Amino acid sequence: MSTVHNEPEKASNGIKAGQEYTVSIEKLTFGGAGLAHIDGQTIFVPGAIPGQQVRISITKNKGRYCESKILKVIKRAIEEIQPRCQHFHDCGGCTWQNLPYDKQIDYKEQIIRETLEHLTPVGEDVRKQLPGRVLKIIPSPQVFHYRNKLEMSFGYEAMTAQEHNGKRITLDESPVIGFHQPGNWETVLPVTECHLYDEQIGLLVQDVNRFMQDTKLPVYNPKTNKGMLRSLLLRRGVQTGEHMIAFVVKARKKELEPLFQHFMRFAGRSGLTSLLVIENHGQNEKPEIPKIHTLVGQPYIKERLFDLEFEISPFSFFQTNTLGAEKLYRAIASAADLSQTDTVLDAYCGMGTIGQYLARYCHKVVGIESHPTAIDDALKSAGKNRIGNITFYKGRTEQILDNQLKAGGKYAFDVIVVDPPRAGLHPKARQAILAHVPKKIVYVSCNMATCARDMGDFLKEGYELRSVQPVDLFPHTAHIETVSVLQKK
Ligand SMILES: C[S@@+](CC[C@H](N)C(=O)[O-])C[C@H]1O[C@@H](n2cnc3c(N)ncnc32)[C@H](O)[C@@H]1O
Repeated sequence: MSTVHNEPEKASNGIKAGQEYTVSIEKLTFGGAGLAHIDGQTIFVPGAIPGQQVRISITKNKGRYCESKILKVIKRAIEEIQPRCQHFHDCGGCTWQNLPYDKQIDYKEQIIRETLEHLTPVGEDVRKQLPGRVLKIIPSPQVFHYRNKLEMSFGYEAMTAQEHNGKRITLDESPVIGFHQPGNWETVLPVTECHLYDEQIGLLVQDVNRFMQDTKLPVYNPKTNKGMLRSLLLRRGVQTGEHMIAFVVKARKKELEPLFQHFMRFAGRSGLTSLLVIENHGQNEKPEIPKIHTLVGQPYIKERLFDLEFEISPFSFFQTNTLGAEKLYRAIASAADLSQTDTVLDAYCGMGTIGQYLARYCHKVVGIESHPTAIDDALKSAGKNRIGNITFYKGRTEQILDNQLKAGGKYAFDVIVVDPPRAGLHPKARQAILAHVPKKIVYVSCNMATCARDMGDFLKEGYELRSVQPVDLFPHTAHIETVSVLQKK
């Protein structure tokens, strides 16, 4: 959350932090905020939707634009609907639950067109053509309850500090389970429902709350690094019916055995295939080297995509919308339009899901992934799925592609598929991809801003943008997945 500044930061256009205005929201922008103008100055209003009239307070004047926060909605938008979740306005997980789904995806498609046009670093003549390449967005098969993974935090609803005999002590008030609100890593907002995850979530949260009250196990406090219960990780195999519950704790060796006894009360939950306790002694929410204790079942759950099966460990990357992922992978196959003689690179392959799906349409697939356990999972699943024409390399894409070139080009890639994290491609990865001169580059992205930046290099070096297929994997949020195809001219 932005904070209000009392001192003006930049006053070149006369708008100062702390000033209040009433504005009308014109449209939605990349990242999810509403757009408004004051005397021609661009104002971003997080949480607002087009058609609303809102009272805002300016939080930052950045010169080219201002950031603000809503004080009050003065007039509702005609298309505004009642959000399904009681936590919508507080939790920060959903951005647009108050917009009908068909409107959400129309806006997403429009945002992709505008981002491409504004952020692709190429000449204006090329840039102007890019929005015309964007295809109709593919909607998510499920609009609610589509997420197969959820992380909740144990924590305190409120924390206050007091002086006591010259010492400052922190009072933790009411331990709860819920979510950290955006920008607030200290306290936790208690939640009783989440409509993005399984419908059973409410019952589980009730049980966990009762468990906290009964056992009085100390909840972790990130400020003091004291306490035991840190977070709860839930994963489900939507197509297999399997379910994982993992309690992330900070506990000494002698405390673990009694903890296991406590957690076994969750063992009888329906559909539960994996009950885990994961030790995390670090300051970060996610343990760097997780120590996993399996109380029930295996330290993974199985999930299916098409006819392929994958074993998902607590922290492995797997698309969070299983049925949506099938739509995405079909869009990738259609974009790649492979022939049986093609050699394909699946770069940033995670556990090799895209490559294993594409392997049936081509001669050979090579996967590259930097995360060691993901590559182990990729090897294991390719073996179990009996895919004989796939090879994996562990390491950074930029490095491995460079080595391939130095070794005299072991692989001549006809098609290169990339699916990088939000930061996009390393400049060296872009150079190495170009040096391999593939016929086609298929760019799968969850961040159109970095994708547009990277595509600029390809467009300047002899490729043309054939199509951009948006796929909605994240209803009610501002996230948008895209599959772009660049063809060698
Ligand atoms: C968005 S995920 C895509 C995973 C996979 N393609 C899928 O659909 O499930 C990005 C992956 O890139 C990996 N990664 C990050 N930086 C990398 C790099 N420099 N080289 C190779 N892999 C990298 C991450 O570990 C992660 O698994």
